[in-house]
Amino acid sequence: MTGKFITLDGVDGAGKSTHLGFVADWLRQQGKEVIVTREPGGTPLGETLRELLLHREMDADTELLLMFAARQEHLAKLILPALARGAWVLSDRFTDASYAYQCGGRGIAVERIAALEAWVQRGFAPDLTLLFDVSPEVAEARRSAARAADRFEREADSFFTRVREAYLVRAKADPGRIRVLDAGHSIAELQAEIGQLLQGLM
Ligand code: TYD
Repeated sequence: MTGKFITLDGVDGAGKSTHLGFVADWLRQQGKEVIVTREPGGTPLGETLRELLLHREMDADTELLLMFAARQEHLAKLILPALARGAWVLSDRFTDASYAYQCGGRGIAVERIAALEAWVQRGFAPDLTLLFDVSPEVAEARRSAARAADRFEREADSFFTRVREAYLVRAKADPGRIRVLDAGHSIAELQAEIGQLLQGLM
């Protein structure tokens, strides 16, 4: 028996974290064991790498490699064992964020990210990705209303415009897995849409 792997992604300020609890509750109501986790992070070592990634200045390739080092640890120690015993795993961000931020945002060649993905994931991918899409203006307003900005959140609007575009390009290339949700909709509307998508996995 294996569980399913669901990821939530989108630019900072799209509101994905708001919906994480809803997805977890929905699945638990179906009797699933649910593990909620996040990237970068999710393991003790991964959380240490997260602190560095969010707050220390570093070269863009170093950033990419640390993202995948954290991801390797996350897969090996938490995600794959949980799925193998039948739990469902819900992650706040995963590899689509590396394509969006490190490729789209920082400008690293897509082949480099694809090579690391192949190394670390060996063909493994989420069963469903909820991509929260929102205009740069709304995302920026939500970011400024939130707590102190980390290294990514301090980037210019043009960075987030490129990140958003990269997410949408990925969604277009893999529409079966990546479902784009208009984060401008009300929370109730989004929850109805999310419920339908989850129903499709049952
Ligand atoms: P985020 O989910 O935004 O954390 P919080 O809601 O607590 O601010 O994730 C932290 C940042 O990490 C976010 O700005 C995007 C970035 N990130 C990447 O650049 N690449 C990646 O592969 C991942 C997983 C995250």
